[in-house]
Amino acid sequence: MAKNVLLNLFLPMLLLCAGVLSDVTFTFENMCSDTLWRASNPSIGDLEPDFPRDTYEIFNMDDHYSGSIWVRTKCSTNASNYFSCETGDCGNGIMECAGINPSYPVTLLNFQVNNPVVSYGVSLVHGQNVLVRIQPNGGTLVDGSGPCPMVDCNKELSSVCPPNLIKENKDGQYVGCNSACDVLKDPKYCCNGHGCQPDEISLKYKGPCPLAHTYPGDDKPPFYQCKGADSYAITFCPPL
Ligand SMILES: *[C@@H]1O[C@H](CO)[C@@H](O)[C@H](O)[C@H]1NC(C)=O
Repeated sequence: MAKNVLLNLFLPMLLLCAGVLSDVTFTFENMCSDTLWRASNPSIGDLEPDFPRDTYEIFNMDDHYSGSIWVRTKCSTNASNYFSCETGDCGNGIMECAGINPSYPVTLLNFQVNNPVVSYGVSLVHGQNVLVRIQPNGGTLVDGSGPCPMVDCNKELSSVCPPNLIKENKDGQYVGCNSACDVLKDPKYCCNGHGCQPDEISLKYKGPCPLAHTYPGDDKPPFYQCKGADSYAITFCPPL
């Protein structure tokens, strides 16, 4: 761990000295017990998918981006060299997702970057596969209502997940919780153009994760628009 952190802390100091501060900086930290494999759609570029535990990385985002970042869990390559993951899998057999949407359930980190404004949110609209936190480092909300707040989903939905929405791996272990819309396809759980409303299941998911969006069109909390933050710290499995 120490080696990675030191290497990566050195880089921003160099950038600082060079005065290259107009970039939108994301930092990623993996505090989960296992390696994660990052992915994004549209792809955010040269972000290495393979993200071992206890590592920390700094990434310069494009000035304009609108999409989602997620992580895949428990990935492996089988005897015919086919790469797949227990959750968040892209289904293409290789490590790079190349703009493919993940299989569900997956915790989505939604971003809209229009440098210097960054909008950010944690979404459980397609379920949950990992715990996450987005912490802006400084910055103020564009609407003038205050500093840019942290958003997170730091509790597993396992205790509130209806049994028919639980995702298990092939060994029968809990690996995530699906959204009702994705599995049941009932319009009452989906935003189908007639207005998006919370339902009894999305409300249950709000309990453990009040700062995450739990149904399509959920605007509590709002999709925060932040300006002037030094960086956005993204932590997987953050400490409580
Ligand atoms: C590897 O996985 C792929 C996709 O599921 C499958 O088609 C292939 O048969 C697997 N190979 C082996 C050796 O299990």
